[in-house]
Amino acid sequence: MWGGRFSQKPAELMQAINVSIGFDKRLAAQDLAGSRAHAAMLFSTGVVSGEDAAAIRGGLDTIAAEIEAGTFPFRDEYEDIHMNVEARLRELIGPAAGRLHTARSRNDQVALDFRMWVRDACDRTIAQFRTLQRALLEKAEAHADTVMPGFTHLQPAQPVTFGHHLMAYVEMFGRDASRFADARARMNESPLGAAALAGSPFPIDRVQTATALGFDRPTANSLDSVADRDFALESLAAASIAATHLSRLAEEIVIWMTPQFGFIRLSDAFTTGSSIMPQKKNPDAAELVRAKVGRLLGSFTQLSVVMKGLPLTYSKDMQEDKVPTFEAFDALELSLSATAGMVLDLEPDVERMSAAAGAGFSTATDLADWLVRELGMPFRDAHHVTGSAVKRAEVLGVGLPDLPLAELQALDARITAGVYDVLTPEASVASRRSYGGTAPDQVRAQIERWKEALA
Ligand code: ARG
Repeated sequence: MWGGRFSQKPAELMQAINVSIGFDKRLAAQDLAGSRAHAAMLFSTGVVSGEDAAAIRGGLDTIAAEIEAGTFPFRDEYEDIHMNVEARLRELIGPAAGRLHTARSRNDQVALDFRMWVRDACDRTIAQFRTLQRALLEKAEAHADTVMPGFTHLQPAQPVTFGHHLMAYVEMFGRDASRFADARARMNESPLGAAALAGSPFPIDRVQTATALGFDRPTANSLDSVADRDFALESLAAASIAATHLSRLAEEIVIWMTPQFGFIRLSDAFTTGSSIMPQKKNPDAAELVRAKVGRLLGSFTQLSVVMKGLPLTYSKDMQEDKVPTFEAFDALELSLSATAGMVLDLEPDVERMSAAAGAGFSTATDLADWLVRELGMPFRDAHHVTGSAVKRAEVLGVGLPDLPLAELQALDARITAGVYDVLTPEASVASRRSYGGTAPDQVRAQIERWKEALA
């Protein structure tokens, strides 16, 4: 492509370090779309003739078909996807191919292709989050009344419902999806026409190409257009946060699956056995989702370090933007699919969850609240009396609902049998009717809200 200035071929090592077709072939569809829009614009602004534009269009169609059929010759000697396409176009249509690169550089071309790829990835990711949220909603609806322990410090804290717990993830994943939507909105400006870095002397129409490619507008500074990759960084940041959230659900699935907890069962579809221990059923998919966050955060770190301190505008360093981004989205998409699969697959052991919900004096706060409400005790005093009740129940080896009334009255003579109404996990859960609370009616209201939002 630059034989005019050069008389020697590159060293083999030069080619080895320089070549990117091995990974940027994933930009083929975006590259062709960009070239089609550019060619159409060059024709409508009179920069290339109708005849040449038609030849270019025909050649690009042939290339698209070749790529589709798997017959396109991806060649290392043409370095990257842009030059591979251009070289093939020349073989197919001859000299007219050379007119396609008028008013364009690989610098704005790669910025465009990569931006469109990330934009598509964001769209796919958002759709996957919706699928995952729907799976969670389905389980939450089935278990809006299923009590389980709510935890802080992984110690039983207060009873909640399994539906409420799952809905916490619906909220998290909703924010994750909206982070991708925000990033998408910000990245939706077309860099095409920034050319090498300074813009173009040809009468190009950047609004036309931007519109044709689904962008809101063209980017406003040609230097920034070819120099920046913050659209990728922002998406990787969103992806890292999302993977962090996924790892938390994955970790809970791992914990719930242990025989010690025994809260859920996963079918054989999402577990593996052990080659030596016949009794084992391991939650490998959940463990791998838990681990993927390392790859995601690594990708964000990689790209930040590549971009850090780069002077304006384009530097070849930026070719290193693609692999971490592709890897990150591949890992995220797989994690999202596996998580949605596991959520639909898992079945809670309602009895075990309910028994655990009542264990660990989980309704102690309900007792304290009852003392405040019914006896007018200051909360701090109620906390103290309840602490003594828990201590006594522990000594007697019973739960709070089974602590004899005489024992409670020994702590405060005004306590009546009415207190037992609040000491079961079911009563505890039903009483938490504050907006966003765990009472089944509140949970169902949130499920309805999300169902409408996702409809
Ligand atoms: N393969 C290059 C990349 O991924 C394309 C842009 C090359 N531009 C240049 N001036 N060498 O960044």
